[in-house]
Amino acid sequence: MCGIVGYIGCKDSKDILLKGLERLEYRGYDSAGIAVKNNAGVYVFKEKGRIADLRKIVDSTVDANMGIGHTRWATHGVPSFENAHPHQSESARFTLVHNGVIENYEQLKSEYLQDTPLKSDTDTEVIVQLVEVFVKEGLSTEVAFRKTLQLLMGSYAIALIDREDNQTIYVAKNKSPLLIGVGDTFNVVASDAMAMLQVTDQFIELMDKEMVMVTKESVTIQNLAGEIVARTPYTAELDVSDIEKGTYSYYMLKEIDEQPFVVRKIIQKYQDNHGELMVDGKIISAMNKADRIYIVACGTSYHAGLVGKQFIEKIANVPVEVHVASELGYNMPLLPEKPLFIFISQSGETADSRAVLVKVKKMGYKALTMTNVPGSTLSREADYTMLLHAGPEIAVASTKAYTAQIAVLAILAEATAKARGINLDFRLIKELGIAASAMEILCDMKEEMEQIAREYLATTRNCFFIGRSMDYYVGLEGALKLKEISYIQAEGFAGGELKHGTIALIEDGTPVIALATQANVNLSIRGNVKEVTARGANPCIISMKGLEAEEDRFVVPHVHELLTPLVSVIPLQLLAYYTALHRGCDVDKPRNLAKSVTVE
Ligand code: F6R
Repeated sequence: MCGIVGYIGCKDSKDILLKGLERLEYRGYDSAGIAVKNNAGVYVFKEKGRIADLRKIVDSTVDANMGIGHTRWATHGVPSFENAHPHQSESARFTLVHNGVIENYEQLKSEYLQDTPLKSDTDTEVIVQLVEVFVKEGLSTEVAFRKTLQLLMGSYAIALIDREDNQTIYVAKNKSPLLIGVGDTFNVVASDAMAMLQVTDQFIELMDKEMVMVTKESVTIQNLAGEIVARTPYTAELDVSDIEKGTYSYYMLKEIDEQPFVVRKIIQKYQDNHGELMVDGKIISAMNKADRIYIVACGTSYHAGLVGKQFIEKIANVPVEVHVASELGYNMPLLPEKPLFIFISQSGETADSRAVLVKVKKMGYKALTMTNVPGSTLSREADYTMLLHAGPEIAVASTKAYTAQIAVLAILAEATAKARGINLDFRLIKELGIAASAMEILCDMKEEMEQIAREYLATTRNCFFIGRSMDYYVGLEGALKLKEISYIQAEGFAGGELKHGTIALIEDGTPVIALATQANVNLSIRGNVKEVTARGANPCIISMKGLEAEEDRFVVPHVHELLTPLVSVIPLQLLAYYTALHRGCDVDKPRNLAKSVTVE
């Protein structure tokens, strides 16, 4: 959470920084700011609110060819002008932006900054004040910066400028993502390559506990002992059109619509020359050796993990546990002899998941990361990676990453089954193709879903999603989508569970969205619908062709019963989207949230 950018070169930096921040706004949008520097000095512009608000107050007459910028998701200190980045040292000689959390900031404050008046409530300000304190003691900026970094505990991606130095942006990284973009007579800094794709596709990855001196002609990377580290740039395989909204009003709808193509792309990417699904042999060997799989994830990725458990157990016959990362971190179950950990993370940066990964690597276990972002922290730190190939997901509410995770998990399960000599009575590649076509049909049924959203959810205060088996997991995801973007209190329940307490909340007209796509529990879930209807609920049954009944409100095309989540989730995503739209919510940037959750 939080995004940072930097530019040093020959052009005016303001617009490059602001455009970069717009592309990082998914990382947080509580406040934003830039600091630009020319021979006359450093100019700081910051504002509570969005980048659009910041743009309005940036003085267009200031011309400056170096600068840094920040978009904030508040952790320490409320969203406010004072807490917005950039932060400046006491004399304003140093200006800094930071993404991450400094865990020992209170201790550093009392040890080094007793005589320094602080202007904000942030942990960040401590960093910039420390640099100035050490420079006042006689150190050069470079040495003072290094000394400061050596004292910091926690996560950081930092960009710092010095009023007395026109040549350098000082940069550092630990645990928070950060890249250096390389250009001809300019260089840039960004939390994510997308932010600077407008000016370069050449990026240098930074490792934890590295600091970098960036000038317009050079990038000098050092470790915290001051030793130079050599690293060559890579080409970011991103297309600018992937990160534009095009004709869509919101990224979320664009990303919902992209799902059939993503599933087809995944089939293509995981196919061998004979048209069979194929996974890296090392991953399959690790799956084969494992006596139990542990899936670790958060939020939507956790919901995909629940579906993945069914695939791996039913298709490949390996036992699986699924854990929420933030709980597993301190609550490790008794592990068998040969566990394999699978981390599912769209961003590959989620701090809760990373904390578990670090722990299991220390324990000597193997880990596989499934992520949408090649080179992300979770990918680099795991033994193996499977990419989701979903393309950049920008809306805060995850949609296409969820279906991509499900498709990749199915492929992993199938490849493991094959390696274990298990014969399946279906061809996954064909069934995935059928599911992709069904997803396409559903994406074209927007009007129907808009109508259902109006009818059931326009004014409600709460809503329940029920389902059994796979439908239960999809219901959890449907509820998460709805609550996070429309702020309706929505809960997903196993169909049989509501009557054990929560049914007390059903009142006249309470919407209950019931999924009925599983043949073996079709009658039971319909029984649960009757129970809530008898207590006044307003039921909306979404079923599957072949299992439908007269009272159903929406029917999705028939797909293989293991793959139903790929299709049944689409009406729920659309329901959430249109409900948020009707309620006047900001679909892509819901309150209090950020896309990449890099704090634990
Ligand atoms: C919800 C959503 C979040 C993420 C969660 C994990 O729409 O996007 O629940 O799924 O924060 O993020 P990743 O997958 O990046 O680890």
